[in-house]
Amino acid sequence: MAKPLLLHILLMGFLLVNLSNQLQLSETKSLLKIQELLNNPSALSSLNIARDFCEIEPTSSFTLVCYDGAITQLHIIGNNGFPSLPQNFSIHSFFSALVEFSSLKVLSLVSLGLWGPVPGNVGHLSSLEILNVSSNYFNGDIPLEILLLRNLQTLVLDHNNFTGQVPFWLSSLPFLTVLSFKHNLLSGSLPNSLGTLQNLRVLTLSENYLFGQVPDLSKLRNLQVLDLEDNKFGPHFPGLPRKLVTLVLRNNKFRVGIPEELGSFYLLQKLDISLNGFVGPFSPSLLSLPSIRYLDISGNKFTGVLLQNMSCNADIAFVNLTSNYLVGKLPSCLVSGSKESRVVAMYSGNCLSNDDEKQHPAEFCHNEALAVEVMPRGEKHKRIYGKDNVKKPSTRLITESALTVNTAKMLSNAKCISETMKLGAALPAYRTFALEELKEATNNFDTSTLMGETSNSQMYRGKLSDGTFIAIRSLRMKKRRSPQAYTHHLELISKIRHCHLVSALGHCLEFQLDDSGISRIFLVFEFAPNGTLRDFISAPRGQKLNWGQRIAAAIGVAKGIQFLHTGMVPGIYSNNVKIKNVLMDHNLHVKISSYNLPLLAENIGTVSSVVSSTTPKGSTQDWERHEDKHDVYDIGVILLEIILGRPVVFYHEVGALKDLLRVSITTDDTGRRSIVDPVVHKQCSDESLKTMMEICVRCLSNEPVDRPSIEDILWTLQFAAQVQDLGTGDSMNSIESHVSLP
Ligand SMILES: *[C@@H]1O[C@H](CO)[C@@H](O)[C@H](O)[C@H]1NC(C)=O
Ligand SMILES: *[C@@H]1O[C@H](CO)[C@@H](O)[C@H](O)[C@H]1NC(C)=O
Ligand SMILES: *[C@@H]1O[C@H](CO)[C@@H](O)[C@H](O)[C@H]1NC(C)=O
Ligand SMILES: *[C@@H]1O[C@H](CO)[C@@H](O)[C@H](O)[C@H]1NC(C)=O
Ligand SMILES: *[C@@H]1O[C@H](CO)[C@@H](O)[C@H](O)[C@H]1NC(C)=O
Ligand SMILES: *[C@@H]1O[C@H](CO)[C@@H](O)[C@H](O)[C@H]1NC(C)=O
Repeated sequence: MAKPLLLHILLMGFLLVNLSNQLQLSETKSLLKIQELLNNPSALSSLNIARDFCEIEPTSSFTLVCYDGAITQLHIIGNNGFPSLPQNFSIHSFFSALVEFSSLKVLSLVSLGLWGPVPGNVGHLSSLEILNVSSNYFNGDIPLEILLLRNLQTLVLDHNNFTGQVPFWLSSLPFLTVLSFKHNLLSGSLPNSLGTLQNLRVLTLSENYLFGQVPDLSKLRNLQVLDLEDNKFGPHFPGLPRKLVTLVLRNNKFRVGIPEELGSFYLLQKLDISLNGFVGPFSPSLLSLPSIRYLDISGNKFTGVLLQNMSCNADIAFVNLTSNYLVGKLPSCLVSGSKESRVVAMYSGNCLSNDDEKQHPAEFCHNEALAVEVMPRGEKHKRIYGKDNVKKPSTRLITESALTVNTAKMLSNAKCISETMKLGAALPAYRTFALEELKEATNNFDTSTLMGETSNSQMYRGKLSDGTFIAIRSLRMKKRRSPQAYTHHLELISKIRHCHLVSALGHCLEFQLDDSGISRIFLVFEFAPNGTLRDFISAPRGQKLNWGQRIAAAIGVAKGIQFLHTGMVPGIYSNNVKIKNVLMDHNLHVKISSYNLPLLAENIGTVSSVVSSTTPKGSTQDWERHEDKHDVYDIGVILLEIILGRPVVFYHEVGALKDLLRVSITTDDTGRRSIVDPVVHKQCSDESLKTMMEICVRCLSNEPVDRPSIEDILWTLQFAAQVQDLGTGDSMNSIESHVSLP
């Protein structure tokens, strides 16, 4: 009795599935549209005769898989792009038809001759897990909208004409397991963020124009295949995880740093490090790695002795030792045709004693080995550089007394703005320092107290006898002028006091012996000892600010800049504020440490260097007209780092990151959060995050006139703080209670 019933149920189920498996009308139409746009390729000819597309038998060139009446897999494999697509082919129309398949999980469009940039609406294929568009003529950057494919596991772009860099934001696709960008026109260096793709199994970047240091990949525990062949990576061997199966570094610029641990990569089957500039001893233990089958070290400068009785892994099938500086005798396990193995081994161009392949005389390898075993270039230089290039200020030519009187008078005349007085109240009064005091504070300007230097100035760290930490900027004056020439500037400096600025405590003047003028000015500043804002946002280690503290920090920076603009007349603009120059005090309040000090601007021309480094567009006139907006741009860059939690070091990155934010603002809450610093992405309320992103993007507008005013920024940041408060019910005790609006 039970049996027929069960059968009945199964049968019903089958019929139901079958019925609902009929492809939806909209998807049917899209498929026909795609057929038309591709110019009726033979791969799709079955569409002309099939009654139900979901029933079409898969072939090597066309496979369709449906579920519940929707296409979940689509594979179209062309014939090397032949016949070619019509002249009026539109990649946009093509993708517009494609994105109708909203349940699509797997998409292969291979060898179809598709050309043009991948359109942004690829981001609508939100279910996509595998995307393979190999062997087409796609060009342009890898589109940012790929970021919206939250389920993407495999991204294969091999054999196309993609340009630009390997995008750093790939690291925010949480499930990526395969990245393959072989044979494209990608350039630049790799983003460090690749080192955080925990699930990555395959990384193939061969045949591109990539260069520089390969980021540390040792944390990628699942990585099995790394192929970087035919690029310009180097010179240091990358940090790698132990479970690698295939490692190909062939034809790059690697030279040094093969780690001993390589000898413990027990799963390694293929190791190809040929055609690089590797120097140093070859480790024969590589021959006996337990899984090794393929070893190519040819075309390097490996040295060392091989012995006949060295052992090899029994499965080893291919060894190429050609063109190195090896001496001794080929291990018998590598002699082809020996009964021990059926290995194919090449070893010409060394100095081995075997004579069936062409060898150099032993002296040749000996001499070359001596030549390459000197310390790799660069390392030696660095060491010398660190010590001797640091100039101690000459201290012979000093008389200090003349100045004290002048300065005291000057300061008594100075009219400080009331707010300056209020905010600077906790600071000791501005004063003149004696050089002896500064020497004592810095152990006679010991190099260990040097924090940084430019061509005309050094920054030292010190501690006064009363225990106060100070920073001393030592400025060498280009022109010898009298103290009076600096009175105005020093007076101004003495007034720049604000709780979000590192303020000057005083100064000390160094005179020429013949009294012909001032040769050096020491400016003494308060010192905020708890590192920089960057340390608390994007440094690899250490305590990180929470979302509320980050908004508070941004407000602090904006207030500091507002004071520079409006707290005195004339205002101080173009401060070139960088996150690494924003210091943190004991209470994690921010203090801007490097602003456009009048003396510095005059002496070393900071202003002009700012123009070239932070102005994307605009004439000199524009520059002057919107002088307050350059600092706004710099605030934008700091906001970027605060939101993303990654260092923004290069000017050219900013554009791409701004686009990233712009796209994220229009996507949903989850998408938006996914690009945010993982440390805070769960804490921030969506409205707060969106507000921060929007103000950041506005600050980074190319045209200064489009950037918000500093007051606008403050309003917006405080709004972001409030909605965060409401959203989380947190009390934002880290924001000062007096965040009064301007
Ligand atoms: C392309 O041109 C053909 C005729 O050459 C025309 O039939 C077709 O509609 C055009 N396609 C598009 C997308 O404009
Ligand atoms: C991409 O698809 C083509 C055609 O199916 C296949 O030959 C190729 O191996 C795929 N590439 C990767 C990296 O999976
Ligand atoms: C792709 O790039 C190659 C090499 O730069 C170039 O020769 C070729 O014309 C490009 N093809 C297309 C369709 O852009
Ligand atoms: C071995 O390496 C040399 C130098 O890189 C190369 O010329 C030769 O073709 C290689 N042999 C094989 C069989 O790959
Ligand atoms: C290999 O041979 C060398 C001399 O040719 C000898 O000193 C060494 O002990 C041998 N090693 C093994 C493991 O047999
Ligand atoms: C700031 O630095 C001081 C001294 O280095 C340290 O004792 C204190 O814990 C730090 N405070 C914070 C909040 O990191």
